[in-house]
Amino acid sequence: MISVTLDHVGKQFGSAKGVEDVHIEVKPGEFFTFLGPSGCGKTTTLRMIAGFYYPSSGRILFGDQNVTNLPPNKRNTGMVFQNYALFPHMTVYENVAFGLQVRRQSKPEIAQKVERALKQVHLDGYGTRRIDQLSGGQQQRVALARALVIEPQILLLDEPLSNLDAKLREETRLEIKRLQMELGITTIYVTHDQAEAMSMSDRIMVMQGGVVQQIGSPQDIYNRPVNRFVASFIGETNLWEGIVERVEGNEAYVRISPDLVLCGLVHQASNDQVLKVGVSVTLSIRPESVTEHKAGETGQGNIVTGKVIISEFTGVSVNYITQVGDASLKAMFINQGHTLRERGEQISFHIPKESIFFVG
Ligand SMILES: Nc1ncnc2c1ncn2[C@@H]1O[C@H](COP(=O)(O)OP(=O)(O)O)[C@@H](O)[C@H]1O
Ligand SMILES: [Mg+2]
Repeated sequence: MISVTLDHVGKQFGSAKGVEDVHIEVKPGEFFTFLGPSGCGKTTTLRMIAGFYYPSSGRILFGDQNVTNLPPNKRNTGMVFQNYALFPHMTVYENVAFGLQVRRQSKPEIAQKVERALKQVHLDGYGTRRIDQLSGGQQQRVALARALVIEPQILLLDEPLSNLDAKLREETRLEIKRLQMELGITTIYVTHDQAEAMSMSDRIMVMQGGVVQQIGSPQDIYNRPVNRFVASFIGETNLWEGIVERVEGNEAYVRISPDLVLCGLVHQASNDQVLKVGVSVTLSIRPESVTEHKAGETGQGNIVTGKVIISEFTGVSVNYITQVGDASLKAMFINQGHTLRERGEQISFHIPKESIFFVG
C-alpha cells in the first residue's frame, strides 16, 4: 500500500485552464474520489497521476518517490477507462495478458496471473471469449482485470460505470468496492455521480471549474458543505437566503421574509464570517431533515406552514414541493404511514435547528 501526494499540482492547456493548485494526500489503501460536473478537471488530474499528462506546476509523489517526470510505464498504476479501451477482436485472455506480455513476463507466469485476475472479477472460464461477445458489464470487468493483472500499487478508475445501465451500475459499484477492500489497494476514482461517490469513498474531493471546492469524508461534505456549490451538488437541498438578525449564545436568528425568521445553531456555519449581524447568508436545509409538525405537538425548532405545489410518491418516500411565504421548500418523508396531501393543501413543517446549515 502506498500514498499518493499531489503537491500544489496545476495543468494549463495553452491558454486554457485544466486544473489549478490541487493539493491532496491520498493515504495508503484509501478509496479517494474526484467528484464534480463534466469539465471540472477530474480526468486531467487522474491522467497526471497516471503520467499521461505532465503537470504545468507542482509535484506528484508515490510514497516518498517523486514521480512527476516519470513516464506512465514506470509508475506501476493500473487504469480503467470510461470506454473500456479493450481490443474488440481479441479474446478476454489476450486483452488481460497484454500488459504482462509488454513487460516480457514468461508464458506460465502470465497464464497464472491472468487466471487469478479473471477470478478476482468473477470471469473465470471466460478467457477464450471474444470481447465483442460480452455484455457491457462483462467488458468493464475485463478492463478491471487488465488493470489489476499487472499488480499495480495504485488503481485509477475514470467513470468506469457510466456506460452501464442503472441496475448493473449498482452491482458493479459493490463489486469494485469489495475488490478494493480485499486487495487493500490505494484507489482513485473519478465520477460525476454524487451517489456513487458517497457510497464508495473514504474521502471525496469536490471540484468545479478546475478548482478544488472541498475535501472530506462523505459525511463531511454532505453535512458540512463549505459553500453553495457543494451544498447543491451533493444530494438535494433547499437553499434559502436571509439576513442575520441577531446572534444569542449558540443560536442565530435569520430573517427570510417579513414574517418568517428561522433559528439555527451557530456552530453549524461553514466559517465564522458567515454569521455577522446584518449580513446576508444562505441556509441549506436538507429535504429529509424536515418533518411533519402535527397539531398540538410541542418541540424545539422552527414551525413553518407550506402549501403543496407538487406531491410525489416514490414508494420509499413522499416528496413535496411547497410554497412557504415567498420561498419554496422541498420535504421528503420516508413512507411510514404518512397521509399523502394533494396540491393546494397545507402542511405544517418542523425544521429542526440542528438541520440548518449556514453557508457563505
Ligand atoms: N488535451 C486537452 N487540451 C485542451 N484542453 C483540455 C484537454 N483536456 C482537458 N481539457 C480541458 O480541461 C478542462 C477539464 O477537463 P477534464 O479534466 O476532461 O474534465 P472532467 O474529466 O472533469 O470532465 C476542460 O475545460 C477541458 O476542456
Ligand atoms: Mg472526464
